[in-house]
Amino acid sequence: MSLLALALPPPPNARFAAVTDVRHYSDRLFAFSCERPASFRFRSGEFVMLGLPSGERPLLRAYSVASPAWSDELAFYSIKVKDGPLTSRLAQISAGDLVLIGRKATGTLVLDALRPGRRLFLLSTGTGIAPFASLIHDPETYERYEQVILTQTCRTSVELAFAREQVAAAHAHPLIGEVARGQLRFVSSLTQERHALTGRITDLIESEALFAALKARPLDPRHDRVMICGSSAMVADLRGMLLTRGFEEGSNQQPGDFVFERAFVDR
Ligand code: A2P
Repeated sequence: MSLLALALPPPPNARFAAVTDVRHYSDRLFAFSCERPASFRFRSGEFVMLGLPSGERPLLRAYSVASPAWSDELAFYSIKVKDGPLTSRLAQISAGDLVLIGRKATGTLVLDALRPGRRLFLLSTGTGIAPFASLIHDPETYERYEQVILTQTCRTSVELAFAREQVAAAHAHPLIGEVARGQLRFVSSLTQERHALTGRITDLIESEALFAALKARPLDPRHDRVMICGSSAMVADLRGMLLTRGFEEGSNQQPGDFVFERAFVDR
């Protein structure tokens, strides 16, 4: 693949970056890191177009950056789909291979799209954890909010491994570890296996089982801010629940009480 990549110039809206590390978590999930192209800027929580050369038109898809804005590497977390045009090929990459990274990062899962508050809830399903892996490593997240509550719901426990590693890494980090240990909490739930907490995040909020597990009060738009990232159905359901509870949707232009993004790549 590297040879093919080198034979073709990158498209005008992207550039090549060398893969530094790849980790496979299951036959459905993997993560990888690459060098950060010189002058590539992004805010923690944003996404970028990422892909591989493919004939005359490169295959590029939106991927959340899973590393924080201060990092000199870019990390990504992806599903693998056997016949998916991009993910089936991306899943084969190894260190030294080249991937294409778009020149511009964007997105709404950024601190600037939320009003100030006390608790920040980062609610994810599946690979929707990726932008939050970025945000929990950013010191500004802890400067803006007293408590950061990260949740991930997956089908089975093997799918929680990436999030657990990210939380452990934030808690152990030399720069942000101390604040993260004091302010960051992680709650996982499973829907298709036995676990301390079982059920969809929507049901756990509705029943208040999430707050019982946290020993914390339920969601309150006066003090709480929420970011959502997961499947289209999960995002739509949670958005509806938050609107019903009096939360206002935010954007980069007009900060609000919650923001959301679909977890992008599904093929
Ligand atoms: P479930 O097993 O009940 O479908 P996926 O791997 O399909 O992306 O799903 C990741 C997790 O998101 C699963 O645990 C799944 O639960 C859950 N999920 C799927 N749809 C919704 C939804 N509309 N609201 C909340 N959680 C959902």
